[in-house]
Amino acid sequence: MSAYRDSFFKYMVRTGPSPMGIEPVKAEGSYIYDRHGKAYLDLVAGVSALPLGHRHPAVEEAVRRQLDRYWHVMVYGEFIQDISVQLAQKMASLLPPRLQSMYPVNSGTEAVEASLKLAKRYTGRPKIVAARYSYHGNTQGSMSVMGFEPRKIPFTPLIPGVEFIRYNDESDLEKIDGRTAAVILETIQGGAGFIEPRGDYLRKVRQRCDETGALLILDEIQTGFGRTGRMFGFENYGVVPDILVTGKALGGGFPIGAFHASPEMTETLRRPPMGHITTFGGHPVVAAAALETLNQIERLELCRASLDKERFIRETFRHPLIQEIRGRGLMLALMMPDKQTADRLILEALDRGVILFWLLYEPRAVRLTPPLTVSREELARAWQIIKDILDRHS
Ligand SMILES: Cc1ncc(COP(=O)(O)O)c(C=O)c1O
Repeated sequence: MSAYRDSFFKYMVRTGPSPMGIEPVKAEGSYIYDRHGKAYLDLVAGVSALPLGHRHPAVEEAVRRQLDRYWHVMVYGEFIQDISVQLAQKMASLLPPRLQSMYPVNSGTEAVEASLKLAKRYTGRPKIVAARYSYHGNTQGSMSVMGFEPRKIPFTPLIPGVEFIRYNDESDLEKIDGRTAAVILETIQGGAGFIEPRGDYLRKVRQRCDETGALLILDEIQTGFGRTGRMFGFENYGVVPDILVTGKALGGGFPIGAFHASPEMTETLRRPPMGHITTFGGHPVVAAAALETLNQIERLELCRASLDKERFIRETFRHPLIQEIRGRGLMLALMMPDKQTADRLILEALDRGVILFWLLYEPRAVRLTPPLTVSREELARAWQIIKDILDRHS
């Protein structure tokens, strides 16, 4: 018997066709426990949002310390809240000189919105270039740069002045021109099926931006913070964006987003005054969680760990029904022959206590984005179950 199932369907807005419906009562490390005491090995990590797994003790301790000091005290940018400043300082130490100024907000999509505003404000140009099959969030600005028509048409009109290019197709780069404020790209396309930039594609984009004076915005909301084996995904491809957008993993399980750019660029948000404002951005409790999450990613050497575990997965997860493993680090997608096989694997694995998930636009993909702290033993245990399910469907 479920205590809240009926009320969940009755009182909470539902937008997905069939929710997974787990009722968690506790989560720790790589596991979520439901109200019947069933343990689920979490290979999704809140959709790439839990680099340290659930309730990492150091993050919990940092949050408790901040809870004892002060919570929300003022809107963003008025008071000098030491913990938020420390977070910005820490981010600056991890990022190249061009990205030293940080504005923390409350979610990924909000950070994307702000980055688009900043690009238009700084360049004075009207046009944004985005990629087909991109995903940048679900508010109106972010949906305007979403490269998947079926999801956005019902919500039109969205923001005008967006042109789309094919990701990894250099012949489209001529659409970036003197009217372009910014090109926004995911460093690795997520919803599209964990599509990596091929060869020196990102460098070519960077070059075209430099030639035309357009800014390069990289959305690292999913690829950031060790998931691809480097602290930031762009480090894999030898480019530095003009504006970086982060979120998800940065909060270590608390809601956050942020954009990062040069002080010269971000100061344009002071003219007119209050060019971007938020009540809760830089929230001190979230900032405490984020700062400690960054410290732990470094302390536990999770960038290297993510590559080690990628190797283990690629060597171990071999099966005739796995046609390809896409992605990098612990941002991996098992490619199934068809949607039915992917659906069956995800649902049967859930039944057997392993959480897998879908990608937004690629129905053949099965998401594998575990906590970066997941152990080899946990991955091996998950593989036994996945293999067993696939064997029965071969
Ligand atoms: C690449 C990318 N950009 C933006 C977002 C939106 O972030 P949020 O859900 O925090 O608004 C996501 C979330 O999945 C994402 O993966």
